[in-house]
Amino acid sequence: MPLPIAVLVSGGGSNMTAIADRIEEGSLDASIAVVIADHARAAALDKAAERGLPSRVVDFASFAAREDFDRALLDAIGESGAQTVVLAGFMRLLGPGLLGAFPQRILNIHPALLPSFPGLRGQRQAAEYGARIAGCTVHFVDEGVDTGPVIIQAALAVAPGERHDTLAERILRLEHRVYPQAIQWLAAGRLTVRGRHVFLRDDHRAVDPPIDCDFIASPPLEAGF
Ligand code: GRF
Repeated sequence: MPLPIAVLVSGGGSNMTAIADRIEEGSLDASIAVVIADHARAAALDKAAERGLPSRVVDFASFAAREDFDRALLDAIGESGAQTVVLAGFMRLLGPGLLGAFPQRILNIHPALLPSFPGLRGQRQAAEYGARIAGCTVHFVDEGVDTGPVIIQAALAVAPGERHDTLAERILRLEHRVYPQAIQWLAAGRLTVRGRHVFLRDDHRAVDPPIDCDFIASPPLEAGF
C-alpha cells in the first residue's frame, strides 16, 4: 500500500510538485494525503489544486498562541491519515507534539550541505561565503533548526563568480531528484536511524534513476546487507 504523506509548504511548491510527479510516474510508492500551508497565499496551494491534491491552510497568523498552531497542525495531519510528514519549504519550526507523534517519520530538505549554512537561504549563504561546493541535504527532523540525522546529500561545484540565484536554481533541480528518492527509501521501510546515523537496508545504495551532479552520497548499508 502506498505510504500516505502530508506535505507541508509555505512557498512555491516545486518540491511538492516533484514528489507528485514521481508518484504519478510510479517511482515513488506514496500518496499525498494532504498538502498543508501555513498561510493562504502560498503558491503551492494553487499547484496542489491544479493537480487535484487535497489541501488545507493552517494559518499561523490566525493563532494567538504558538501551541494552538501546533495543535491545529497536528490535527490537520492526523485527520488526513498521513503516516509521514514531508516538509517541502515549510517555514515554521515544528512543536514537540508533532515531533513526538511522528518519530523518525518527518523529513526535510535543506538547500545546503549541512551542517554548513542552516537556516534561511542556505544557497545564498554558501555563495556569499565563497564556498566552492554547494548542494542539498535530506534529513530527519528533530527539535533543532536543520539538525536532524542526514539521509542523503548531493553536491555540485560552484562556478567561478556564480550568482546565488543561479546556484539556487541548480540546487533546486537536485532537490527535486533526491527528495523523492529519500521518501521512497522511507516508504519501502529501508531507513533505520541509530543516533545521528542513518542506514539503508537491502543490498544497493544506487539512486534510481541516477542523478546528474558532481557528488552524491546515499546512506551506508545496514550491517548484514
Ligand atoms: C527549497 O529550496 C527547499 O530546500 C527549502 O525551501 C525551498 C522550497 O522550494 N527548504 P519549493 O517551495 O519546493 O519550490
